[in-house]
Amino acid sequence: MNNNIKRLILSFLALVLISLPSMALAEMPEPINKDLLEKGKKVYFKRCVWCHGVEGGGDGPSADRLFTRPRNFIQGTFKIRVTDSGELPMEADLIKTVKNGLQGSAMPAWGEFLAEDEIVAVVNFVKSLVQDRDFSDEDEEVFVQDFGSNPWGTTGPYHLGVPQADIDAGKEIFIKNKCFECHGGEGRGDGNPTMKDDWGFPIVAADWQQCWNFRGARRDYYNPFNVVRTITTGLNGTPMPNFKDQITVEDRWKIAAFVNSLCPRKNIDKLTAKPIPDFLIQSVYTEGPVSPKIDDPSWESSDTDGKIVPVSEELAENPKRHYIAMAGQITRGKRNFDPKTDNLWVTSRWSAEENAVYYLVEYHQRFMSEDPEFPDAVAIQWPAQLQELFGAEKPYFIMGDSKKPVDIWKAKFMAKDYNPTNAPKPDGYKLDVSVEEIVGRGYDALSAKESEAKVEVVDSIYKQGRVKVLFKRTLATEGEFDVQIPTEQFVPVSFFQWAGRDKESDEHMAISTWYYTILKPALPASLYYMPPIIAAIFICFQGWLVWMTKRTRKLFDEGKFQRDEVPK
Ligand code: HEC
Ligand code: HEC
Repeated sequence: MNNNIKRLILSFLALVLISLPSMALAEMPEPINKDLLEKGKKVYFKRCVWCHGVEGGGDGPSADRLFTRPRNFIQGTFKIRVTDSGELPMEADLIKTVKNGLQGSAMPAWGEFLAEDEIVAVVNFVKSLVQDRDFSDEDEEVFVQDFGSNPWGTTGPYHLGVPQADIDAGKEIFIKNKCFECHGGEGRGDGNPTMKDDWGFPIVAADWQQCWNFRGARRDYYNPFNVVRTITTGLNGTPMPNFKDQITVEDRWKIAAFVNSLCPRKNIDKLTAKPIPDFLIQSVYTEGPVSPKIDDPSWESSDTDGKIVPVSEELAENPKRHYIAMAGQITRGKRNFDPKTDNLWVTSRWSAEENAVYYLVEYHQRFMSEDPEFPDAVAIQWPAQLQELFGAEKPYFIMGDSKKPVDIWKAKFMAKDYNPTNAPKPDGYKLDVSVEEIVGRGYDALSAKESEAKVEVVDSIYKQGRVKVLFKRTLATEGEFDVQIPTEQFVPVSFFQWAGRDKESDEHMAISTWYYTILKPALPASLYYMPPIIAAIFICFQGWLVWMTKRTRKLFDEGKFQRDEVPK
């Protein structure tokens, strides 16, 4: 056979191969398609209807208490796509969404519960729920966008290794394109309190410092590609525009590197899609007095605090910022299914000279309360009578119980001269703080202490979408219900937070489970060979705590415990 004929046959074969799939599709007998939809429908009515509603109107029984609300499929508006603004998504986009979930919203990652073919089926059923548009309409052309490629070749789970110069260049592009008008000066999403989505519901800009909450994170939280995709395609149905005409593909990777660099590197839990909590809050020994000023370098964190550059050696002795997971209180009274704050960060020092301990509590909040009836607040909870508890015994974690009272330090505050629509104030807002010390013997048995105040808030600020409150108390006090804080011992501690703007008050709040804190000893020179051993003990202990907490949570979830019988 001569070469020409060979080529002819080959290209004929190729043609047949290329056209085969579409021929097969065109001739696909109705029943298969029907079977697929039937199967998808079954999955939908078992798994999705609770949120997305019978007709896909986003109005299932759980819808009203969720923020953001479940998607209304009727208009065919989808956020996370590789297609152009306003266009329908690719089927592959929807499959990825259903598999990985939409982080930071109630939309679960179904990859854990559904088989691949069930996911394809349910996606096809969802497509059939769209009424205002038609996926098979020829006019619904879609254009997959050009995303360039990762110029640094970073692939690791944390995508480090981007040159600082590119991150700095990204910052310039951020300023030039005014992302801050919505996302705030430091990217905490505090730029604009009045945005609405296409369905008329309030919406806020993403907090770049919590990239694990990006809808399009695809469970690959630190991958700059996610940000490149978002600014290339925009998010349909939301005020988030595309920037493909304003920013070149190369520059989109640089701004993505900048956005990405703001997000603290934490290990992300596969199940919760949030950072794994730091269950042991270490209070750093300070010989002289502790600085009562939040801005003092001694409070600068020794961990990366969102900066990609490794910390300097001077900070190595500084305390770590500990990640505390928060969840809505849903066991009684006015429940809170969807608190906007899902974490706090806690840093601690104690002073041998002052015989006092300091806890710096900080959290992100896009907008502060302007209603004095609903101030913002945060509290630290302790067992009031620590000495009387045995082993790992703890009071009931929401405000104690009749046998085991708790000591609650609550700071309530309003930002002074605050206006959320003002351009971000670089110096931030001072807070008007009042402190309450409360004895709790359960929800209905809270009483303000009559003894003189011992807990102080020595400094506080609200700046660029972040609240910081610095608590101080002497270790030993007189009051019967004041926790007496020992050094070098594990002490249970937990946290509450109220967002005034969302009308949270009383039991309508965000809570943490019990954590532990320890006032670390000064390390005498002879102990310098000990750290590895201490570290090993800490790690074992922490592992045990995580296990215990998970187990307790699970038992609670399964309803094995009522409120008064807390597992020991
Ligand atoms: C617990 C509630 C809940 C359940 C159950 C749920 N979803 Fe969702 N879903 C949501 C929420 C909330 C959103 C919107 C998030 C947003 O817009 O920020 C959403 C959005 C979506 C989107 C839109 C994605 C995009 O890019 O805009 C799709 C598709 C979707 N869900 C499919 C499903 C399927 C399929 C199931 C069942 C297998 C399901 N959902 C079950 C809460 C839920
Ligand atoms: C007009 C307001 C506005 C501007 C300007 C804006 N954004 Fe957004 N952005 C939003 C909103 C609103 C959301 C959240 C949408 C949601 O929750 O569904 C968002 C979400 C995001 C997300 C998270 C996407 C995800 O997967 O959840 C990223 C990343 C982002 N924006 C980057 C940028 C960058 C970079 C710029 C500037 C080049 C920018 N945005 C400019 C309003 C804006």
